[in-house]
Amino acid sequence: MLHMAILGAGRIAATMAETINRMNQAGNHAVSLYAVAARDLERAQQFAKTHGIEQAYGSYEEMLQDQRVQLVYVATPHSHHHQHVMMCLDHGKHVLCEKAFAANARQAREMLQRAKDKGLLLTEAIWTRYQPMRETIAQVVNSGVIGEPRMLTANLGYEIMGKERIVEPALAGGALLDVGIYPLNFAEMVFGAPDQVHAVGVLSDKGVDLQDSMTLTWKDGKMAVLNAGANCVSDRMGVIYGTRGFVVVENINNPQSITVYDAKYQQIEHHPCPAQLTGYEYEVVEAARCIEAGVLECPSMPHQDTIHMMELMDEMRHQMGVHYPFG
Ligand SMILES: NC(=O)c1ccc[n+]([C@@H]2O[C@H](COP(=O)([O-])OP(=O)(O)OC[C@H]3O[C@@H](n4cnc5c(N)ncnc54)[C@H](OP(=O)(O)O)[C@@H]3O)[C@@H](O)[C@H]2O)c1
Repeated sequence: MLHMAILGAGRIAATMAETINRMNQAGNHAVSLYAVAARDLERAQQFAKTHGIEQAYGSYEEMLQDQRVQLVYVATPHSHHHQHVMMCLDHGKHVLCEKAFAANARQAREMLQRAKDKGLLLTEAIWTRYQPMRETIAQVVNSGVIGEPRMLTANLGYEIMGKERIVEPALAGGALLDVGIYPLNFAEMVFGAPDQVHAVGVLSDKGVDLQDSMTLTWKDGKMAVLNAGANCVSDRMGVIYGTRGFVVVENINNPQSITVYDAKYQQIEHHPCPAQLTGYEYEVVEAARCIEAGVLECPSMPHQDTIHMMELMDEMRHQMGVHYPFG
């Protein structure tokens, strides 16, 4: 059982703590939730009390000096992933780092190089890559039931303008890195890496993207039309269109069902999502399994895909005119 620690005691950190507790209750002891660190000791102690965590630290550095910590879940804003992941690696800890993995591709490359140099696992916590529904979607599309897949649409949007990390350029804010990353990953999981990308954004007064329209094309004629937003709610649908029918994925940010229709718009298949604890358990299980096996890269999210995703988003930010203080 790996001793896991949470770095940053915010919203997603609480969901991860709940996930690990539910895993343990369900008899899965791949990891045990050993420690949490927040920038404020009282908040860390409160978080530890709420989630039954043994150790609470009032500084990230102090927690990383704890020899018992083996795997750290980095749950801070994207702007700080580079700094915090580097700290973890320099203290000899394996890392599961929240999405977006970094603020840009340069940071992502440096982080992954450091992990390689140190012989530690580092993986991006983009949950949809690790979930079993990913494989179900691939099986349905590859079965030929919709003929040749040619076109894809996907969207994700929430009204999250009240969050500082969404609106501030210094926290790598904007819709793209926070929610746009999901339709992008969805498109890449189905069609692979695109050959061309075009992005248009509606920017805030502070210069971060509030709404994104993204069109990806592939040399073999496939196309994906995606959108993301931080200022309104979307239906979260993903649709894959083929020559003989189409597949509707309900909620691309944690697929709940897959429904297949034929060219006459008749439903011909339906695949519900298997029971989940929270949906985040799969990334934890895979990271732990890799560490135990001495494998430094999770097969569900290879390092090259993490870098590629950051490169794609760098290019899109460039096209939209979104600039962060750190590039
Ligand atoms: N996978 C998913 O489904 C999912 C869902 C939501 C968010 N996320 C990702 O998780 C990360 C955190 O998101 P969140 O919603 O949990 O954010 P949040 O509630 O704002 O929490 C972020 C935490 O980061 C820490 N932090 C360290 N330096 C900071 C700084 N300079 N400014 C602000 N916070 C700082 C704070 O922890 P302390 O002060 O407690 O140390 C804060 O509690 C983001 O990268 C986000 O994209 C992923």
